Amino acid sequence: MSFRKYYQVFKTYSDINSPEYKKRIEELEPHLTKYLANKGRVLDLACGVGWFSFLLEDYGFEIVGVDIDEEMIKKAQEYKKERNSNVVFMQADAKNLPFDDNSFDYVLFIGDNVIHFTPSELNQVFKEIQRVLSRDGLFILHFNDLREMIPMLKSSNIVGEKYWVSKMLLDKEEKFVIIEYQSPNDYFRVKFNIWGKTAIELLAKLYFMQVESLRINEYSYFQMYKPKEVEIRLQA
Ligand SMILES: C[S@@+](CC[C@H](N)C(=O)[O-])C[C@H]1O[C@@H](n2cnc3c(N)ncnc32)[C@H](O)[C@@H]1O
Repeated sequence: MSFRKYYQVFKTYSDINSPEYKKRIEELEPHLTKYLANKGRVLDLACGVGWFSFLLEDYGFEIVGVDIDEEMIKKAQEYKKERNSNVVFMQADAKNLPFDDNSFDYVLFIGDNVIHFTPSELNQVFKEIQRVLSRDGLFILHFNDLREMIPMLKSSNIVGEKYWVSKMLLDKEEKFVIIEYQSPNDYFRVKFNIWGKTAIELLAKLYFMQVESLRINEYSYFQMYKPKEVEIRLQA
């Protein structure tokens, strides 16, 4: 069961020069630039190889990119060197962030990071985001509604250049799905936590107030949240 293999094989999140990655940038850049109006300090949480960090750096933001995966951070550091960038990349866990309270004006959690987290884990991540976000900061969330996507995944066979979906196992409660990808030479499985828009919004409601929710394509949402008031935070 390997996300590492998944990210190696499919370039959507791992190769900033691939058409798939470029398509994501085209989709998200107008929203990011519209809603991140004032310059400030940004945490790009679960930043992957870091392109969204570089994008916002080019717009004048000060960026810290965090990812739990050593390989992702290594690749981000390579891109950083090529670009002569000042983004600070760190390997850390989104559930336990090495930052002081109120230390960022914006937290980005984009590109479908939610599939990595069970409900209790995502709860912990949201709690951490609320803690490190300044009182008047903004939390920017982007995800694909995997619950809505499942029927489409069931009927789609070819994925990427060489692989097809050879098996798909849904648990009874549809909390996660295990997908087996096969090529002429090998196969691997990945376990995705299934998150739909409603469940994400309910969880986010514990820590944030929604400011905006945009449907940016058939399955994908771009949302903005403000942290809840301090009194409520202390009780949470
Ligand atoms: C779908 S990729 C998206 C990467 C990036 N946000 C983007 O849009 O290109 C999800 C990322 O979440 C990272 N990740 C998974 N669990 C994490 C955790 N507990 N803490 C920090 N990052 C995590 C993975 O390593 C991966 O790079």
